[in-house]
Amino acid sequence: MSVLIKNGKVITASEEYLADVYCEGEKIVAIGKNLNYPADKVIDATGKLVFPGGIDPHVHLDMPFMGTYSSDDYETGTRAALFGGTTSVIEFILQTQGDTLHNALKTWQEKSIHKAVGDFSYHMAITDFNENVAKEVVQMIEEEGITSFKTFMAYKGALMIDDGQMVELMKVVKKNGGLVTVHATNGDMIDALVAKNLKDGNTTPLYHYLSQPEVTEAEASGRFCDMLHYTGCPGYIVHMTCEGALNAVRRSTQRNQKVFVETCSQYLMIDASLYEREDGYKWVMSPPLREKKDQEALWAGINQGLVHVVGTDHCPFTIEQKMKGKDNFAKIPNGHPAIEHRMEFMYSEGVRKGKITPTKFVEICSTNAAKIFGMYPTKGTIAIGSDADIVIFDPEKEHTISASTHHMKCDYSAYEGWKVTGKTETVLLRGKIAIENNACHLKPGDGKYIKRGKSSMVI
Ligand code: URP
Ligand code: ZN
Ligand code: ZN
Repeated sequence: MSVLIKNGKVITASEEYLADVYCEGEKIVAIGKNLNYPADKVIDATGKLVFPGGIDPHVHLDMPFMGTYSSDDYETGTRAALFGGTTSVIEFILQTQGDTLHNALKTWQEKSIHKAVGDFSYHMAITDFNENVAKEVVQMIEEEGITSFKTFMAYKGALMIDDGQMVELMKVVKKNGGLVTVHATNGDMIDALVAKNLKDGNTTPLYHYLSQPEVTEAEASGRFCDMLHYTGCPGYIVHMTCEGALNAVRRSTQRNQKVFVETCSQYLMIDASLYEREDGYKWVMSPPLREKKDQEALWAGINQGLVHVVGTDHCPFTIEQKMKGKDNFAKIPNGHPAIEHRMEFMYSEGVRKGKITPTKFVEICSTNAAKIFGMYPTKGTIAIGSDADIVIFDPEKEHTISASTHHMKCDYSAYEGWKVTGKTETVLLRGKIAIENNACHLKPGDGKYIKRGKSSMVI
């Protein structure tokens, strides 16, 4: 199949220009003015933006968590992502404590390979580190193309590892060319605050927020940077929410430490006042939403090059699942639905409102994730030889976010009624039409596993 996209404004992380893009099979084969290739399909992109498919490196699909499973699986989650212009996701394999990484990998392959509609890869979450796991880490990098290892400094008894294990993991990962990623919050401090609040009868969602103050994230982020500095390992902090944590990273750059930072669209857009609402449970996630001053710090961090990636931490639960915690905030499954609208939100709230440039938008929504996680330039750009993962985007189209129109398997929208300017119109996944005329034209199993290499952002 060949596709010729005519007269669009091509945007990459470094340029904007008017051009035609010609794709043959799975790849982009020509970019230029007035291209004249005979193509199976010609798309008129006049007045439209043409940018690389989004990459969301932080999603949880069909994930066992807090006694239930996140409600989107690989089929519904990757399909919803495509509707919003995200063509690739990186999901998290969770090692069961006491079990092997290979067993966890097998479980996740069964969940994903025949179900994914869009392309996908995995981070491996290390929840129990020992000498055998160290050997498996090397095998994951060399044989399976899993080059990033997720750690949790919170969720004690389920996912958390201690600092001794963290340092040993970092040494192995560094030696073998991988990357350690982290959920950086102080688990012990949070657990103590949760216990105290419950003891005092403070059970509403507001106390989820009050049990995870900014210092819990700032402290853990700084500690993680210190451990990176000590081991020389490259690191990546996921879902950063606040000024204090960003300043911990800023301080570590003063001694020449390089650490990659991800925030998520929700931390740039909505704030902790939502926890005071009756339906505050909809936004119970960890870390929690923060303050307006944190949003400002994060937008500034993006433009300062301190924040490299905007993901979603998509981890949806239905209202019925969330209701498990109606009398106890600590039982509300953490997470919210977001995979579908990240690109549109970042365009509407970021580019349209003058907070970021179009090239920065592409950088944080696609290119940097591809580079950091070893997929570039196959993914993450519009260039000759790259995968033809392409979004044709109407920058003027206004629409309203609603659970009645979204494609995520979740019976509420955390953004019900939000007005957005800019809409994903057509999406190509490796040269195939994935989204057109508000319909998905791919099926489960069409999404391909992305075997990743080493980061091109680490020297
Ligand atoms: O609330 C969240 N973030 N749920 C998913 C698990 C995690 O910590 O990323
Ligand atoms: Zn997390
Ligand atoms: Zn997460």
